[in-house]
Amino acid sequence: MAISKSWAWSWSLISFLNLALFRVAAAGGHPLPIVHKDVVILGGGASGTYAAIRLREDYGKSVLLVEMEAVLGGHVNTYIIPETGEAFNYGVQSYIDYKGAKAFFQSFGIPLQPNVLFSSNTVLIDPSTGGIVTNAPAPPPLNESIAALQKYHDVIAPWDDIQLPGYWNFPRGNQIPADLLLPFADFVKKYGLEAMAPILNIVSGQSISTTDPTMFVVRNFGTPVVEGFLQNTFFDPVPFNNSLLYEAAGRLLGADVALTSTIVQADRSNPGGGVRLVVENLQTLARTVVVAKRLLVASPPSVENLASLGLDAQEKTVFRRSFTFLTVYTATLKTNLIPENTSVAFTGLINSTYSFSLTWNGVLGYFWVIFFSEVLLSKAETSQVILTEMAALSQSGALPPPMGETPNSEVVSISNHSQVTWGPSVQQIKDGFVQDLYALQGHRDTWYTGGLWCPDYSSNVWAFTDTVLPKLLRGI
Ligand SMILES: Cc1cc2nc3c(=O)[nH]c(=O)nc-3n(C[C@H](O)[C@H](O)[C@H](O)COP(=O)(O)OP(=O)(O)OC[C@H]3O[C@@H](n4cnc5c(N)ncnc54)[C@H](O)[C@@H]3O)c2cc1C
Ligand SMILES: *[C@@H]1O[C@H](CO)[C@@H](O)[C@H](O)[C@H]1NC(C)=O
Ligand SMILES: *[C@@H]1O[C@H](CO)[C@@H](O)[C@H](O)[C@H]1NC(C)=O
Ligand SMILES: *[C@@H]1O[C@H](CO)[C@@H](O)[C@H](O)[C@H]1NC(C)=O
Ligand SMILES: *[C@@H]1O[C@H](CO)[C@@H](O)[C@H](O)[C@H]1NC(C)=O
Ligand SMILES: *[C@@H]1O[C@H](CO)[C@@H](O)[C@H](O)[C@H]1NC(C)=O
Repeated sequence: MAISKSWAWSWSLISFLNLALFRVAAAGGHPLPIVHKDVVILGGGASGTYAAIRLREDYGKSVLLVEMEAVLGGHVNTYIIPETGEAFNYGVQSYIDYKGAKAFFQSFGIPLQPNVLFSSNTVLIDPSTGGIVTNAPAPPPLNESIAALQKYHDVIAPWDDIQLPGYWNFPRGNQIPADLLLPFADFVKKYGLEAMAPILNIVSGQSISTTDPTMFVVRNFGTPVVEGFLQNTFFDPVPFNNSLLYEAAGRLLGADVALTSTIVQADRSNPGGGVRLVVENLQTLARTVVVAKRLLVASPPSVENLASLGLDAQEKTVFRRSFTFLTVYTATLKTNLIPENTSVAFTGLINSTYSFSLTWNGVLGYFWVIFFSEVLLSKAETSQVILTEMAALSQSGALPPPMGETPNSEVVSISNHSQVTWGPSVQQIKDGFVQDLYALQGHRDTWYTGGLWCPDYSSNVWAFTDTVLPKLLRGI
C-alpha cells in the first residue's frame, strides 16, 4: 500500500494515540498525516531492505521502510569511474552462496557471475619509512593455507546449529563449547591453523584481534564463508555493480520507502497493542505519524542510535553492555603510484592508532581503501592520513609513478562504515550475553535483525531475517 493512498487521517484514530505523543508531534497546531502499516522497518541496509521485500511481496503485509540515507543498501558503495563510466565497488564486494542469497538477486532479474576476485601481488610497506619491507617472512604456500582452512572448517562445523544463521540456540555458561571462548590466538595454536592467516586476512582486513574469543572470529568467518573459499562459490551481480540490487528493491517498494528519514519519536508503551511512531524526513522536516502493529529494527542497536525509540532499562542495559564502537571508512584512492595487479599492505598500525590497506580492484589507477581506527576520525582527517602516507610512500621511492608523470594521489570517494560491534567479555558471554540480547526479540512489539544479531555478512543477515519474520508475524 503506497503511503500517499493511506495518508487520510481521521479523528477516530486520534483517540487511539498517546495524547502526549500526539501533542508533540502536532506542535505548531497542524495535525500530522497518519499512516497505518503492519510493519515499520527502521534501516534500509541489507537486512531491512530484504525484510521489506519479503514482508510485502511474500507475506502480503503493508510496510514502511525508513532509511536515513538518500539510498538503500547500507554498506554498499559504488563509485563511477569518470573516464569509463565503470562501476567500482568500494564497500561490500562479493556475496556468499548461502541459503536464499542467489534467489534474492534472481527475484529482481539480476544475472549473476562467479566472483570477480582480483588476485594481486601485495607489496608490504613499513609505515614509519614508507619503504618496501624486503625481509618479510614468506607467506605459507597455498596448499598449506588450504589444508589449514579445511581443518578449521572441520573443527567449527559441529557448532553450526548454535550459530547459523543466528544464535537462537546458543547455550550459556559451561554448555558453551570451550573452544569458542578461547582467545583466537590460542585456538589457532591448539589446532595448528597458522597457515590459514592469509585467507582470513582477505576477509577481516585488520579488524580481528587475536585476543578476541574464537566465537567472534567464527561469527564472520564461519563455515559458509570458508566453503566459499574452498569451493570458490562467491558470486557477484552482472554488471559488477553492487548498488543494482538495492536500486531494484527501492524501485519495487516505491512509496513504501521513506529515504532521508528516521524515527524521531516512538510510543511503545502498550505492549501487544502495536507502536506509534513519528517519522521525519531529515531534509524537508515533514513529519508523519505511523501506527504499526510491529517495529522491526534493522539498524545498529546502540543506545545512541535508538534513543528516539524511548529505550527502557532492559533495552539500555543490554545495548550498553555488549557493544563497542569501531571507526571504519572505505574509500576509493586514485593514484599513479601503484601499478596494475598490485595491492599495498602495511606491516603494522600506522601512528599506532589506525591501519589501512590499498587493494587492487580491477581498474588501473583506482584502489579500494579499507581503514580502521581506534580513535574517532572525520572523513577529512581520514583522507588526510591516507594522503600523508601516500606522500611518504612517494618520497621513499618505493613505488615510483610511471615515467614522465608526477606523483598524484587523490581520495575520490569516502564512506563512513563506523558502527558498534560485539564487545562482551568471555564472562559476559557465559553469563548470558546472547540470551539477554535475544530476550529483546518481541519485547514491546519490537523485533530486530541485522549484523549485530548474527554472523555479519549480507547472505547471512538475509537468512537470519528469514528466521525473525515468522516470529514477528505471529498474531498479526
Ligand atoms: C566495508 C565493508 C565491506 C563489506 N563487504 C561485504 C562483502 O563483500 N560481502 C558481504 O556479504 N558482506 C560484506 N559486508 C558486511 C555487510 O555489509 C553487512 O553484513 C550488512 O550490511 C549488514 O546488514 P545490516 O542490515 O545489519 O546493516 P546495514 O547494511 O549497515 O544497514 C543499516 C542501515 O540502517 C540505516 N540506519 C542506521 N541508523 C538509522 C537511523 N537511526 N534511522 C534510519 N536509518 C538508519 C543505515 O543508514 C543503513 O542503511 C561488509 C561490511 C563492511 C563494513
Ligand atoms: C604442499 O606442497 C609441498 C610441496 O609440493 C609439500 O611438500 C607439502 O607436503 C604440501 N602440504 C600439504 C599440506 O599438502
Ligand atoms: C551502478 O548502479 C547504480 C545504482 O543502480 C547506478 O546508479 C549506476 O549508474 C550503475 N553504474 C554502472 C556503471 O552500472
Ligand atoms: C594483470 O593480471 C591480468 C589477469 O591475471 C593479466 O592478464 C595481466 O597481464 C596482468 N598485468 C600485469 C602488468 O602483470
Ligand atoms: C560515522 O557513522 C557512525 C554510525 O552511524 C556515527 O556514529 C558517527 O558519528 C559517524 N562519524 C562521522 C565522523 O560522521
Ligand atoms: C602521526 O602522528 C603525528 C603526531 O600526531 C603527526 O604529526 C603525523 O603527521 C602522523 N603521521 C601520519 C602518517 O598521519
